[in-house]
Amino acid sequence: MAVSLWKEVIPAIEIFLSKARSIPKIRFLKQPSTSASLEVDDESADLIHIDAAHDYANVSADISAWWPKLRRGGVMLLHDTRSFPNDVGRAFSEFPAKKAEILEHHGLGALFKD
Ligand SMILES: C[S@@+](CC[C@H](N)C(=O)[O-])C[C@H]1O[C@@H](n2cnc3c(N)ncnc32)[C@H](O)[C@@H]1O
Repeated sequence: MAVSLWKEVIPAIEIFLSKARSIPKIRFLKQPSTSASLEVDDESADLIHIDAAHDYANVSADISAWWPKLRRGGVMLLHDTRSFPNDVGRAFSEFPAKKAEILEHHGLGALFKD
């Protein structure tokens, strides 16, 4: 499942989407990420990558909305922990889970669900 508002028209993403849309197992939801989470069963996802709005309130809301969707043993990734240390980085460091972080490429936080 891919969730985004897709407000921007970025050629590389348009090309990716046009190819990926022909893959039957991928669902595209053009809606806010928190409401899209309601379409996903709890504990059904192995991997969730959050890279939507980057302010603290929205990142925290995304983590809260999507964390229940992750199954035990799953991983939630948060992009831009280093680019937005007071927002993405803060929400990442405050969340009570086992975690690791890659510092390169703007920072990628990983939250592990036991
Ligand atoms: C930083 S871009 C990252 C996109 C994608 N992860 C990538 O690497 O190409 C953030 C995207 O999230 C979308 N977005 C922002 N806020 C959102 C929200 N609340 N719900 C869903 N998508 C959102 C934006 O429209 C934008 O396309």
